[in-house]
Amino acid sequence: MKVAAQRRYGGPEVITIQERPTPVPGDDEVLVQVHASTVTLADCAFRKADPFIVRLFAGLFRPKIDVLGDDIAGVVAAVGPKVTQFSVGDRVHGSAGANLGGMAEYACLKEAGAMVKAPPGQDLVPLGGLSYAYLTAMPFIRDEGKVKPGDRVLINGAGSSIGAVAIQLARYFGAEVTAVASARHETLARALGADHFIDRHAEDFTRRRDSFDVIFDAVGKSSHARSAAALKQGGIYLTTVPSWGIFWLMLTGGQRGGKRGKLATTGLRPELDKRGDLEILNALLEQGAVRPVTDRTFPLARIAEAHRYVETETKAGDVVVVMPVAEAPLRLAGHAADIAG
Ligand SMILES: NC(=O)c1ccc[n+]([C@@H]2O[C@H](COP(=O)([O-])OP(=O)(O)OC[C@H]3O[C@@H](n4cnc5c(N)ncnc54)[C@H](OP(=O)(O)O)[C@@H]3O)[C@@H](O)[C@H]2O)c1
Repeated sequence: MKVAAQRRYGGPEVITIQERPTPVPGDDEVLVQVHASTVTLADCAFRKADPFIVRLFAGLFRPKIDVLGDDIAGVVAAVGPKVTQFSVGDRVHGSAGANLGGMAEYACLKEAGAMVKAPPGQDLVPLGGLSYAYLTAMPFIRDEGKVKPGDRVLINGAGSSIGAVAIQLARYFGAEVTAVASARHETLARALGADHFIDRHAEDFTRRRDSFDVIFDAVGKSSHARSAAALKQGGIYLTTVPSWGIFWLMLTGGQRGGKRGKLATTGLRPELDKRGDLEILNALLEQGAVRPVTDRTFPLARIAEAHRYVETETKAGDVVVVMPVAEAPLRLAGHAADIAG
């Protein structure tokens, strides 16, 4: 099978297409023929070992986790003898887990992992980018923000993978949503349910006063210190990206002047919790409350180009890498980047 793998840390060019033996599923594993996976900023961080701390997980001198790719969407090709919940031919989607490995034609996942059957009729390719964004946005919006009807929620980086899902979830929980992004992402943000839009190049949202119950910085480009004044008393600032400022705030009581702040690490949640949330995602997809947002698709052979594009930090929604098995039907279907749905 073909995999996108790297032998050393570095720029996008270190990722090359290699041939590997197709894995054989263990007793409790499912072999998935992957149709699509995604490239994210987290993949780029792993690829180049920046920040340095990545080396503690991925290998000190060279990558032990050499096939990246967290999300997978595909079709079950084989199951281990103890597997009861999946059968050959099932269409599935989810997260490959801590060892990644989704950027390959086949991947073995634990039956008890963060994987569910795909909703009937749902195109697999856009799902190849959705789990990552959804499994991040959902715990932030529901568990940390505790968003409820009538809350005023601001999403910074509203066009990002995580931001695009966060808008939809905040709306689903009944909030009045303000999206912050570059002007070119306004149409998308409003199509996803944003009530208000701030062009971040024209207005600094941190200058608003006592306006929001929740500020969710999906791209971690702001800070609690600068954003706190825009929160209502008792409001919470949430960020996806670690910084000394948010660590210090969390170590010293988690709030200043009644304006709370938190970083959550959603990737570290138990697999069973993620799986439960993927079941909820399926229901949301079927209701039309959440839809995937695909910025661009790249064939596996152009994986380095996908990394380069993701690193521009300009994308809207997900960059999906399509495996050879799914390329031909895609062309027949005339699939094109779906931004506004
Ligand atoms: N904490 C966790 O557990 C966790 C889990 C997963 C990911 N993450 C992190 O979450 C972050 C976001 O990931 P993602 O994949 O959603 O990002 P992404 O899709 O790659 O973000 C691209 C977006 O960033 C926006 N952007 C760029 N510079 C900006 C700025 N200065 N201010 C506001 N927006 C800006 C751009 O929008 P505009 O051009 O419209 O401004 C673009 O739409 C990453 O750093 C990732 O590592 C954290």
